[in-house]
Amino acid sequence: MMIAPSILSADFARLAEEAAAVSTADWLHVDVMDAHFVPNLTLGLPVVESLHAATDIPLDCHLMIEDPDRWAPPYAEAGARNVTIHVEAAHDPVQVARALRAAGALAGLALKPGTPLDPYLDILGEYDTLLVMTVEPGFGGQSFISEVLPKVRRARELVQSGHLKLFIEVDGGVSADTIEQAAEAGADVFVAGSAVYGADDPSAAVEGLRAQASRVFGQPTPAVG
Ligand code: DX5
Ligand code: ZN
Repeated sequence: MMIAPSILSADFARLAEEAAAVSTADWLHVDVMDAHFVPNLTLGLPVVESLHAATDIPLDCHLMIEDPDRWAPPYAEAGARNVTIHVEAAHDPVQVARALRAAGALAGLALKPGTPLDPYLDILGEYDTLLVMTVEPGFGGQSFISEVLPKVRRARELVQSGHLKLFIEVDGGVSADTIEQAAEAGADVFVAGSAVYGADDPSAAVEGLRAQASRVFGQPTPAVG
């Protein structure tokens, strides 16, 4: 189980310090937006390279960009631990996954809230991470969309039954109020932006979220049948 604070809600002029403020985080989530795939514009490869040099926390790059086939592999080459692309934007998601893995990163596939999971089950074997968006991508601070949790549940069943081997990540609106339902559905990587960087003590917020998710993980699995 991993907690990944999103620097989208951090102070972009002080990114190294903001990373240091969440030193117990498992991954640091970096939202790359290109003003085309989503209406917002954030940061790109040079900032990721500098951030990688400035922190030991593995970077989890979430690329909300057009043409990830062309632009995603350099993030893996820059040292990101996990690079997630959007299936809605990819021309050849299998090829992108192979390029990311060949460059030494984990490969992630993201689904917007309205994008179904089932059409992509046959390519998920090429991936290490499934990111289920729990808000419309583009902005921090939105409300968690619990209607997407059946996708998390379905993915967890396929992992449990050995058909897939994936981290299942949720991103958007994850907070003390929502993390438990995401964990119950089967997520094991939790992105949180405003719930971490909006807190007085970001590090304590990370630990609080971790404790909540861990409690759910610690519960005995209900007997089947
Ligand atoms: C939204 C981003 C999220 C965002 C989450 O497009 O992908 O990573 O930072 O922010 P919160 O946790 O505030 O919803
Ligand atoms: Zn994100």
